Amino acid sequence: MSEPAADVPGQENHSRESHELRPGGVSLGRVGDYPEGVTPVRRTVGEEELPLLVLRQGGAVRVFRDLCPHVFLPLTYRGPRVLSADGLRLRCTNHGAEFDAETGAPVAGPACEPLMAVTVRLSPDGGIIADLA
Ligand code: FES
Repeated sequence: MSEPAADVPGQENHSRESHELRPGGVSLGRVGDYPEGVTPVRRTVGEEELPLLVLRQGGAVRVFRDLCPHVFLPLTYRGPRVLSADGLRLRCTNHGAEFDAETGAPVAGPACEPLMAVTVRLSPDGGIIADLA
């Protein structure tokens, strides 16, 4: 009969590790954690909770603040489906403003300012590190 698994000192717990603050940024987990399309997530930085949109398209990952510049409501306020069927635009669920999914630039509707893009880098192990500090 085998012994039950035990914690190994010094070994990382990936589920816990994936949400820790890392030097120079905040971990958003790993690329493989996200399905194709947009996934809303939240991260707390200091005392502020930041709603984010993680957009994965193949190996490319982009992150925007989930905050529409029209009247500063989350794009996902009325539901999580904000990516157009062709994957080219993010559409705010409130009043229909549309933004370029690659750059966040406004392309249609009432918003005149771009979405706030979050700078991210990918670590060699597939981790997504967001510059939210
Ligand atoms: S809050 Fe997004 S279009 Fe008005």
